[in-house]
Amino acid sequence: MSRAATNNLTVIVLAAGGGTRMRSKTMKVLHPLGGRSMIGHVLLAVQAVEPRRIVAVIGHQRDQVGAHIRALVPDVVLAVQEDQQGTGDAVRVAMEALADEAAESGTVIVAYGDTPLLEGDSLRAFAAEHEAAQRAVSILSGVVSEPYGYGRVVRDADGDVVAIVEEKDASRDEREIREINSGILAFDAAFLVEALPKLGNDNSKGEYYLTDTVRIARDAGLTVGAFTIDDVRQTEGANDRAQLADLGREMNRRIVTRWMRDGVTVMDPATTWIDADVVLAEDVTILPGTQLLGTTVVLEDAVIGPDTTLKDCEIGAGARIVRAHGELAVVRGGATVGPFSYLRPGTVLGRDGKIGAFVETKNATIGDGAKVPHLSYVGDAEIGEGSNIGAGTVFANYDGVAKHRTVVGRHARTGSNNTFVAPVEIGDGAATAGGTVVRRDVPPGALAVSGGPQRNHEGWAVTKRPGTAQARAAEAAGAGPAGAREASHDEPDVGSDPSGETES
Ligand code: UD1
Ligand code: CA
Repeated sequence: MSRAATNNLTVIVLAAGGGTRMRSKTMKVLHPLGGRSMIGHVLLAVQAVEPRRIVAVIGHQRDQVGAHIRALVPDVVLAVQEDQQGTGDAVRVAMEALADEAAESGTVIVAYGDTPLLEGDSLRAFAAEHEAAQRAVSILSGVVSEPYGYGRVVRDADGDVVAIVEEKDASRDEREIREINSGILAFDAAFLVEALPKLGNDNSKGEYYLTDTVRIARDAGLTVGAFTIDDVRQTEGANDRAQLADLGREMNRRIVTRWMRDGVTVMDPATTWIDADVVLAEDVTILPGTQLLGTTVVLEDAVIGPDTTLKDCEIGAGARIVRAHGELAVVRGGATVGPFSYLRPGTVLGRDGKIGAFVETKNATIGDGAKVPHLSYVGDAEIGEGSNIGAGTVFANYDGVAKHRTVVGRHARTGSNNTFVAPVEIGDGAATAGGTVVRRDVPPGALAVSGGPQRNHEGWAVTKRPGTAQARAAEAAGAGPAGAREASHDEPDVGSDPSGETES
């Protein structure tokens, strides 16, 4: 596993700002991409470096943001910054929250909560270089073509770093500099504690700039320097939703590329979305328009897609999922799903089983080799191995008050257009006829038939639907009115009109 970069590392994550440009009731750092919040990605990168402590500075919506961070990093130190008076002020608040914790030695890294592409390896390399060079301050810098808005890394004639100058405070010449401060800084903790009280806010924003520590260190004759990251996107923040989408696409591109390198076939990376926590085996194939979300796991040789969304699902080896939507469902090896299937939470499809076209399932365990091939709803049910459920079957699980279970045994064969009125049990090897409404248990091996024998009411169309195309067609075929050929006592009574209507 990863090794700690240092044995006394503190990481401060700044997340107090409002993020107003998101124009959202949700705080910026809580917006998700790749199945995790922005700050969730940052915290994972930070945890990968195994710091001794992590401090998060919160302010806007502190309860919500604090609870989210605490859930991800239970031993985090939360520091509240009442007024956002700048990055220097935020770090002062963080260091004060650590006052008792002997944080005054070792290394302190400051990172932001809105840089979701940041990787632990980069932070580790940065911390290691900072410590090896024994600097008071190190800047994680990047060279960009459009430096507008960033603090610029100002170097002297020898190329040594002398300061970071913010956009608004920069001279014309300084604005030409393309080496920028990513915002991620590393400090010697003792120096930081000395320098923070010296920060002023006499600048164009009236804020306490953490970046002024660079000049303070230089003036004290201490070593400062920059570590330039090639992959600058790792330090990019999202300030609005367009940038969030852009980072989301980039994150997805990186994830999809990684899986292809690990042996997954992705036919169309541009329309394939894979969340950060998804796990795929070698020789999985993903067809266009597929989203694998949450903690979905797909085993070898499974083929997913096209046009399939799976969230928190488990797909077995060699399974085949076509145009389906699944959530919290388990599909075992060799099983097939789709096209147009909806697998709701609690669905478990056994080995080599089948959930076919236009089938919805929920809380349903479908045994090995069992099949629900067409147009059915299977809710709160258990279907034994090898059973076959006829087309158009509804597991009527809800009586208007409570949900009930239906149990179908092993190797049962049920007819088309059945309704199973739960709670009800159909035994092993039992059968039901087409159109059966199963209200009572069917013993093992029995055939259930419901409804009376078929009765044909001669002349019904001509009598009950006079003047319609239906009646004319019947007449053209030689049908007369009711009673013309039959005794009238065979006529249907009021209320038993097979059209479902009541005679008036
Ligand atoms: C900052 C840097 C700049 C760098 C840029 C990179 C300073 C003075 N400037 O500028 O050199 O190029 O980041 O993106 O440090 N925050 C707080 N409390 C505050 C102020 C900010 O928690 O009082 C947090 C924000 O939520 C945000 C981060 O710190 O996550 C950066 O703040 P922001 O105001 O965006 O800094 P920039 O002006 O972009
Ligand atoms: Ca910013």
